[in-house]
Order: sequence, then structure tokens, then C-alpha cells
Amino acid sequence: MKALCWHGRNDVRIDNVPDPTILNPRDAIIRVTATAICGSDLHLYNAFIPTLMEGDILGHEFMGEVVELGSEVKNLQKGDRVVVPFTIACGQCFFCKKTMWSLCDNSNPNAGMAEKMYGFTPSGLFGYSHLLGGYAGGQAEYVRVPFADVGPYKVPEGLRDDQVLFLTDIFPTGYQAAENCDIQKGDTIAVWGCGPVGLFTIASAYMLGAERVIAIDRFPERLQMAQKFGAEVIDYEQVDVGSTLKEMTGGRGPDSCIDAVGMEAHGMTLDNLYDKGMQMARIGTDRPHVLRQAIMACRKGGTVSLPGVYGGLLNMLPIGAAHAKSLTFKMGQTHVHRYLPILMESIEKGKIDPSAIITHRVPLTDAPDAYAMFKNKTDGCVKVVMTP
Ligand SMILES: NC(=O)c1ccc[n+]([C@@H]2O[C@H](COP(=O)([O-])OP(=O)(O)OC[C@H]3O[C@@H](n4cnc5c(N)ncnc54)[C@H](O)[C@@H]3O)[C@@H](O)[C@H]2O)c1
Ligand SMILES: [Zn+2]
Ligand SMILES: [Zn+2]
Repeated sequence: MKALCWHGRNDVRIDNVPDPTILNPRDAIIRVTATAICGSDLHLYNAFIPTLMEGDILGHEFMGEVVELGSEVKNLQKGDRVVVPFTIACGQCFFCKKTMWSLCDNSNPNAGMAEKMYGFTPSGLFGYSHLLGGYAGGQAEYVRVPFADVGPYKVPEGLRDDQVLFLTDIFPTGYQAAENCDIQKGDTIAVWGCGPVGLFTIASAYMLGAERVIAIDRFPERLQMAQKFGAEVIDYEQVDVGSTLKEMTGGRGPDSCIDAVGMEAHGMTLDNLYDKGMQMARIGTDRPHVLRQAIMACRKGGTVSLPGVYGGLLNMLPIGAAHAKSLTFKMGQTHVHRYLPILMESIEKGKIDPSAIITHRVPLTDAPDAYAMFKNKTDGCVKVVMTP
């Protein structure tokens, strides 16, 4: 089959690779009908996540048709159309039982590697390095889905692929980011980053009762989309973000601040240039510029929520400010399984059309160009959907 494989920094290629096969009785093989590139894939493309190997198949946002089933998968049938959570979860461990699916104890066969870095391992993820399981991803014609009796979720009749594809990751991710803020009536939420995750965070914050959402980015097309989702916007290249947020909130600061940017923040500020230097020299792992801003901007007693991914150790984090202001921190990979049913329902009822953020639709064979475009944000690119 054809699959998008990683070959090093800024180098992904369409390769011919062996078709996946059933390895365990709880596996399914899915014929992929739609797959997307995620901001998280850029951390791999830019080689900031360790333990990728040449030839690894990328992709964790995918859906398709069930074509083969292991003997223990009783809830699916060949021909079913399913969306597949990017987090792989067994459904039976301590964490899965508490619906903390992205923390599943049984889905990372390379748990020892993650334990060395993090103390304990999170769940395995599709197409996301050997540290997180070494699973082949879904930017391919076919993919093996482990624990298929737990993850894949059937798509109701009448919904198109492009309407439900983002239930695999970014819509639940935006929703969890907003839910983590425990939004109260009248709240103002600030969201850094108007990429796909930021946009679904804005939409979710309103779904959960926010009065105002203020969104921050620099790309006009992304800021315009944020406005379409109801946000007031700040271009961080035009104004000082901290003082603008203070002014816009009567001097008190946003009730919650959401970092939907993560480890590769842009910006020519001193702190970010310092982080960039450290990252280039491979003595730093992350660029937490946005997180610093979010901590400083947040009102006293507020919440800082981090859907944006961080990988390692952070420098110059204003933890003193966070402590002095009694901030709450919430973060993590998304418990996709937890949110899939309610968000599927919101799409079915026509409350939201996730396909609105798609700017590019291309065949999978164009994936290498699509990665470069999505990374450099050229051609107004916000979200790419690919069909094998
Ligand atoms: N927690 C999860 O489970 C989960 C799931 C999906 C994605 N993510 C993470 O969410 C983040 C965003 O993903 P995405 O797909 O939207 O990526 P993206 O690259 O399309 O969007 C990031 C946006 O941040 C903006 N940005 C950069 N620096 C900024 C700054 N200083 N201030 C304000 N905005 C800034 C960029 O202009 C861009 O629009 C990534 O870190 C990704 O890994 C996490
Ligand atoms: Zn993703
Ligand atoms: Zn589990």
C-alpha cells in the first residue's frame, strides 16, 4: 500500500510499504477514506519529538471503512464506517475505567522508554514516535487499529467524512481545552493560536457558556476564521498581548487562558529568541513563550489550560506568578473517547459544521507538498484533508 513515511527533518515521502495485518484478536484493519495533517504532526516533521525512525508511517487523524476484524471484536462489522480516536486505549485498565483514555496503561508497548522520560507512560498514539508506541499511522491506504472493540466509533448515516473526521482529535481537543477551564456564566476566555485546535477551542468555549472569547494569532486568514467562530481577535505582531488583554477585560485579565500553540511558538521576543537558540543547539526542548504570556495574563484564581503540546523541560517559566495568583493548570493529550459521542451528536443536530475549517483537499500522494504548505502556512492553509 501507499503510506506517508517520515525520513528526517522536513522530509516525508509517499512510500510503498507492506499492507497491515491483524496481529491481535482485538485488532481491526481500516481502509482509510479521509485523513488530515495535525499541528502535532509538525512537531514530528520538524524533528522535535525524539524516537522517530526513518520509514515510520505518520498520521493520527483518520477514518474509514472496516475491512478486517480480529476474532474478539464483536461490536464492529466489515463495511462499518468509523472514526478512530488518535489515542489508543484498552478500555479495561484503571485509567480507562476512569475515562482518562489518553492515559491508558496498556497501549504503549514501549512504556519503558516513556517511563524514563516522564516517570509513567501515557497511552500509545497512532503515528507518533516509538516513545508513544511505535504504531503505524493513518496517513496511508490502510491502518491496523488495536483495541478496535474500544476506540472506533460508528458514523451515523447521512454524515460526510469531512463533517466527522475531526472527531478523531482536534474537535475533542478544543472541547477538552475549554472544558478544563470550568467556564462560568460571564467568563472571558483568551485563546492563543487560531490553528485548527484554537478554532475548535473557541467554538467549544462558546458551547460551554463563555460570554467572550479573545483569540490571538498573526495570520489574517486564521484571525478571520476565529472571528467567524465568534471571537474578538488580537494580532500579536501589532500590539502588546498582555496589556491589550488587560485593557479588554477591565484591568482584571481573562478568567482562563488557553495555550493552543504549544512547544513551537513563533515571535521575535527576547524570550522566544532565547528558546529558539536553545532548541537549535539541542540543549532546549520547547519554546514556551505563549505559556509564559498566558500565565502572566491570566486573572488571579484563573485557569491556564494547555491543549498545545509540550515535550520536555521548560526554561524561565514564571511559576512564581502562577503561585502568587493561585492559578490552576490543566493539560494533556485528549481523552477523545470521552467526548466523541456528545460531539458527534452536536454535528448530527447541525450545531456545528467542523468542515468549515478545511482550506485544502488533496490526494494522499500530495502529502509531502501539503506538509510543507501547512507548516509554512502558505496559500492560506488552515487545515488539509487528504484522500488515499
Ligand atoms: N492535547 C492534544 O491532545 C492535542 C491534540 C491536537 C493538537 N495538539 C497541539 O495543539 C497545538 C496546535 O495545533 P494546530 O493543529 O492548531 O497547529 P497549527 O500549527 O496549525 O496552529 C498553531 C497556531 O499558533 C499560532 N501561533 C504561533 N505562535 C504564536 C504566538 N506567539 N501567539 C499566538 N499564536 C501563535 C500560529 O500562527 C498558528 O496559527 C499543537 O501544539 C498541537 O501539537 C494537542
Ligand atoms: Zn492531532
Ligand atoms: Zn486502558
